[in-house]
Amino acid sequence: MRVLICGDIVGKSGRNAIRRELPNLKQLKQIDFVLANGENAANGFGITKKICEEFYSLGVDVITSGNHIWDQKEIVEYIKLDKRLVRPCNFSEGTPGNGYAIFEMKNGENIVVINVMCRLFMESVDDPFKSIANLLELINSKIDSAIILVDVHGESTSEKMAIAHFLDGKVTGVFGTHTHIPTSDLHFLEKGTFYQTDLGMCGDYNSVIGMKKELSIKRFTQKHLKTRLEPADGEGTLCGTILDIESKSVKAFEQIILGGKLQKD
Ligand SMILES: [Fe+2]
Ligand SMILES: [Fe+2]
Repeated sequence: MRVLICGDIVGKSGRNAIRRELPNLKQLKQIDFVLANGENAANGFGITKKICEEFYSLGVDVITSGNHIWDQKEIVEYIKLDKRLVRPCNFSEGTPGNGYAIFEMKNGENIVVINVMCRLFMESVDDPFKSIANLLELINSKIDSAIILVDVHGESTSEKMAIAHFLDGKVTGVFGTHTHIPTSDLHFLEKGTFYQTDLGMCGDYNSVIGMKKELSIKRFTQKHLKTRLEPADGEGTLCGTILDIESKSVKAFEQIILGGKLQKD
């Protein structure tokens, strides 16, 4: 089983990078399942039904999210209908949508995708450790075995690593999103779980984490103006990782960085 996991898709540049690269990449690398974080796809803030549908048509199987999930108001109703759009599992009880999704693949294997949000330097959410432990218990009671992929959406590297070690041996892979910067620490934890601190973004890197650099600099230098950020609109880079999975464990991984300012090939 070969899975591609893509970092936060930011604005039109990110959507264009997915349009431009994903169909070819899927074919070239024989990808069976695609996960992408879509929390910034709609002009940098949230996601819409139309964008979800376009991602599915391009070959995305599941869309994870994070703190920006509610930025487009229509999503509050839409997420109740779309089981492939996942929000963090540690939002307070009663929040619309699901914190995980289960997929049955053609070969009979199950893939479970979980989204969880960190707390350090972020708005308050329930305890990510406890929420995910409860969720794993629930999933184990529902299905016998599954590939389990966890998108840890967080600002701080330490909290992401701590969650990964907490899940080591219990899930197939843990990978970070939210910072929009790809890290090069892809490795296996002691009990075999794959880990990467951040996948990076799918978006324009001639920017400040996907937003127009001039606006971002102004926001830092003239704080009182509260300048509204807009996504940068140059050529986007697709950032992600390919995981080769056998018997629920990652056997090999490859970091993918295609197009735009970070182009490596
Ligand atoms: Fe993001
Ligand atoms: Fe985020």
